[in-house]
Amino acid sequence: MSKKVDGPLTQAAEALFKPFASEKLQLSNRVVMAPMTRAHSPNGVPGADVAAYYRRRAENGVGLIVTEGTIIDHPAGTGNPSVPSFHGEAPLEGWARVVAGVHEAGGKIVPQLWHVGMTRPNGSLPNPEAPSVGPSGLGLDGQKINEPLSVEEIESIVEAFGRAAAEAKRIGFDGIELHGAHGYLIDQFFWEQTNLRDDLYGGDLVSRTKFAADIVKACRSAVGEDFPIILRISQWKSGFYEAKLAKTPEELRQFLTPLVEAGVDIFHCSTRRFWEPEFAGSDLNLAGWVKKLTGKPTITVGSVGLDGEFNGAFRGQSSNVTEIGGLLERLEREEFDLVAVGRSLLADPSWAAKVRDGRFDELQPFKAEALQTLF
Ligand SMILES: Cc1cc2nc3c(=O)[nH]c(=O)nc-3n(C[C@H](O)[C@H](O)[C@H](O)COP(=O)(O)O)c2cc1C
Repeated sequence: MSKKVDGPLTQAAEALFKPFASEKLQLSNRVVMAPMTRAHSPNGVPGADVAAYYRRRAENGVGLIVTEGTIIDHPAGTGNPSVPSFHGEAPLEGWARVVAGVHEAGGKIVPQLWHVGMTRPNGSLPNPEAPSVGPSGLGLDGQKINEPLSVEEIESIVEAFGRAAAEAKRIGFDGIELHGAHGYLIDQFFWEQTNLRDDLYGGDLVSRTKFAADIVKACRSAVGEDFPIILRISQWKSGFYEAKLAKTPEELRQFLTPLVEAGVDIFHCSTRRFWEPEFAGSDLNLAGWVKKLTGKPTITVGSVGLDGEFNGAFRGQSSNVTEIGGLLERLEREEFDLVAVGRSLLADPSWAAKVRDGRFDELQPFKAEALQTLF
């Protein structure tokens, strides 16, 4: 029998296991599985092992699962044929089985809809003939690689996101998340270093939201008013951790306004360490600021329960378990509404159940080897 931790920590952990009720999404608790690419879906098809992996998290107390990034219907959407697709019969049948398993276990699940943009090297499988695409054809370092996207192709990608949203609803998902973070296609439009366009899709920070806003509107018109749309955003970009879309709260407000108007219901605010203040003069993190500025529910993320940030995992680094008191205090203060957990849940499907039951002594350090297996 495991030892229960008494006192403030156990009591405070209740904040994580209170039901969440918003206009369009109700959850049994505040624990969200963060989207994590696993690349275990040969030819883009998520199989029985992927379904079992997600179901295991739902069975063990995760309130909402955000799937790994899954690729909309565009030939250059990914450079990895083992990343799951979100179009075509076989991948969507695979996803329908994932949804059924999670629902049987009492969980909820949304797909993270993804296009990697210019982070994909030209010539990559599964469609080596398709050139990689981005607002200005630039890599994240600002170097020119390809021609800018034409307006027609932008519109066709927007439509592809809308079709994916319709499919998500059709096969029973509980909402969608749009991957607008980390320097991938949507974020390449947001960021001044990768978007030099001088048409309607470029210009100042507000104008650079048009692509994302068009996608949100296309998804909204595909799924109707009641289906939740989550947008994941980040200031940082892969390899550019000091990048900032918004340098002040006022810029953040300007950036968020058209996205709220387009129909985003929940913002998933990706940071690598949830405790870092976003702007000087306040303790609020990005999720805290976005909630304060928009009034919308927000999801926080970043090193929950671990002492090292997630990129270390790709360099073979382990992270040790840390206490979560500071996180729970912020949640109790309603700085944000939901808490996404990445590596801890990747390595241990029972992480949420252990925290819920006060079995903190059973939590395991994160080991990079966990990336190799899908359990
Ligand atoms: C193996 C791995 C794959 C990831 N893939 C994605 C992804 O597909 N989409 C995404 O938005 N974030 C992705 N992330 C980032 C996580 O969603 C999360 O923000 C990050 O791991 C920080 O949370 P953690 O510190 O709890 O691990 C990935 C992280 C890891 C470790």
